[in-house]
Amino acid sequence: MAEESGEEYLFKIVVIGDSAVGKSNLLSRFTRDEFDHNSKATIGVEFQTQVLEVDGKEVKAQVWDTAGQERFRAVTSAYYRGAVGALVVYDITRRTTFDSAKRWLDELNSNLFSLSLQLNLNIEARSVGNIEVGIGRAHCDTAVTRMLVGNKCDLESIREVTTEEGTELAEEEGMFFIETSALDSTNVSKAFEIVIRDIY
Ligand code: GTP
Ligand code: MG
Repeated sequence: MAEESGEEYLFKIVVIGDSAVGKSNLLSRFTRDEFDHNSKATIGVEFQTQVLEVDGKEVKAQVWDTAGQERFRAVTSAYYRGAVGALVVYDITRRTTFDSAKRWLDELNSNLFSLSLQLNLNIEARSVGNIEVGIGRAHCDTAVTRMLVGNKCDLESIREVTTEEGTELAEEEGMFFIETSALDSTNVSKAFEIVIRDIY
């Protein structure tokens, strides 16, 4: 669809979580409507772009995907730089991945925090000469929309993490929460759309 105004929005969204929770499949379902039963573990960092229409405006979501496996991870603060949205994914059939979600969230928050401190430092170092931690925190808390995602909800019979537990953690952390299935498409677009609409 042609945009008369030429206005365009580009939002960077990062996807994080343990290996094999379905990050890459959520992304391929969202951007290409594809699912891979035998997908390989991601090595390093990849990203895909998907165009959406929000309130009649064209919005580009640039979604970044990285390896959950420690040995393949190339995640530094560069991965998080410029992100305005984050999906923290776990697998509802593996409790260990839910326990890890908290750690991924801590990593996300501390990276965003140090990035925003750097930003504030650059802007204010000369005039103020000193940084107030409160500024950095306020900045990073409001700038990034976070969503907790319980994936593989098609596997109800072998569920280990209840919906209530997911809701509770998300409430504690002040994030959105949704359960998805990259396999049968449940809530996949919705998850990304909620984040994008909130950013927008
Ligand atoms: P890393 O790249 O190692 O971090 O893993 P990942 O989080 O990207 O996982 P990936 O998308 O590669 O999926 C891992 C496995 O789970 C694959 O065998 C997928 O087919 C399967 N899978 C992903 N999403 C779903 C889902 O919603 N339901 C079911 N049943 N299987 C899924
Ligand atoms: Mg992957």
